[in-house]
Amino acid sequence: MNAQHDTSPSAWLLRGGTVIDGSGAPRFAADVRIEGGRVVAVGEGLAEGGARVVDVAGKIVAPGFIDVHTHDDQIVLAAPEMLPKISQGVTTVVIGNCGISLAPLVHANVPPPLNLLGGADKYVYLTMAAYVAAVDAARPAVNVVALVGHSTLRVATMDDPYRPATSQEQARMVELLQEGLAAGAAGLSSGVFYATGAAADIDELALLAGVAGAAGGVYTTHIRQEMDKVIDSLDEAFATGRRGKVPVIVSHHKCAGPRNWGRTIETLAHIDAARRHQPIGLDCYPYVAGSTVLRREMVDGVIEILITWSTPHPEMAARRLADIAAEWGCSQQAACERLQPGGACYFQMREDDVQRVLCYPVTMIGSDGLPHDQHPHPRLWGTFPRVLGHYSRELGLFSLETAVHKMTGLSARQFQLVDRGEIRVGAFADLVVFDAATVEDKATFEQPKALSAGIVRVFVNGEPAYRGDDGQVQRHGRFLKRTPDLA
Ligand code: ZN
Ligand code: CU
Repeated sequence: MNAQHDTSPSAWLLRGGTVIDGSGAPRFAADVRIEGGRVVAVGEGLAEGGARVVDVAGKIVAPGFIDVHTHDDQIVLAAPEMLPKISQGVTTVVIGNCGISLAPLVHANVPPPLNLLGGADKYVYLTMAAYVAAVDAARPAVNVVALVGHSTLRVATMDDPYRPATSQEQARMVELLQEGLAAGAAGLSSGVFYATGAAADIDELALLAGVAGAAGGVYTTHIRQEMDKVIDSLDEAFATGRRGKVPVIVSHHKCAGPRNWGRTIETLAHIDAARRHQPIGLDCYPYVAGSTVLRREMVDGVIEILITWSTPHPEMAARRLADIAAEWGCSQQAACERLQPGGACYFQMREDDVQRVLCYPVTMIGSDGLPHDQHPHPRLWGTFPRVLGHYSRELGLFSLETAVHKMTGLSARQFQLVDRGEIRVGAFADLVVFDAATVEDKATFEQPKALSAGIVRVFVNGEPAYRGDDGQVQRHGRFLKRTPDLA
């Protein structure tokens, strides 16, 4: 944006705070000194030594939060201030989830769900390297970690993504994935739940997952089905991971639909058993509603559905599908058809399941926010303060140390982000200062775009990035290449 980015990184001393270091260890009183983009000292009574001093007495100093599940591929370029995320204390976003990545694909009119990334015509990056260059030029406020999306690979290589791929098409997908990994992508994501990925069998998935694994990356997946067939779908993901010799991360784990409420007892036990044989992680957002494109098969007439956007009927955003159907004098399914293309929040989970998944030891926090929706799910603006304020402080679901760990140290470890997600000497100075007594999400399903309370200061790569008192954002993020291979 301006020349300030070219000045050498400055020294800061955060004085008098309480450090929660991201490892899950108990908090301790300490000053934190940052210089040259890194944490250079942690301890009581540190000398000023030319640093600018910030009084953080009474506040928590934690590693910046890592949003491991995002669809921010296009918004980091289009709105690089990234206010919905930086204002929550998020300093790194993992993009390209659910099989959908902006690169590598050039396409004028992508099919759903690829249009979740801000429109059907936003795909203009032939290679991941070109996308990485675009991120570095845009200089967003947050760091960016990229996954290569399986649906993107299919749309890039096939005339028709709704059928199985030929071996030539698969070979071309492997090449594109290899280019993405060489450019620094952290791994492969799939969304076999979606039509663009669903025709892939496990041979295709294991082939590609194996390419990610061989490069030292991860495999994240929006599994085939999160309803009655959730166990079979988990098994497919685990088998893919074993065959590809790659760590599996199950995206936004849930048991959806009233028939499956309570079944996280069963799925988490199943995941526990599988973890004895292979590395598996989960991510989760702290709400009972999911959100994605409008899909007729998700309209069961039972669960509540809130419209988040509609191309033919933008005036229906923020309204309930049942009310729209009543007004139009038609079924909810028929109303859904008339509203497409569009998006919705689906109130398809139960609170006890959400809490069980949040508590699970290897569950990381990921917002799954959809930044281009007209009336977005509140997870976009509220996920991280909601876990800290509502779930940790108010409900006492877990300690603040555990809450922070699930959004920092655990996430960095599972995504192999070296020197991120912890406060210790030598780590990158991605930091958030917050007030444990007041941190709270303000975004709701009615008013989804709202700044959270209690986030005081954010630093990215050692530079000031956000102030809660005046809402000012400075942009110091960068693209993070897969580490340690490409550090
Ligand atoms: Zn998903
Ligand atoms: Cu997603």
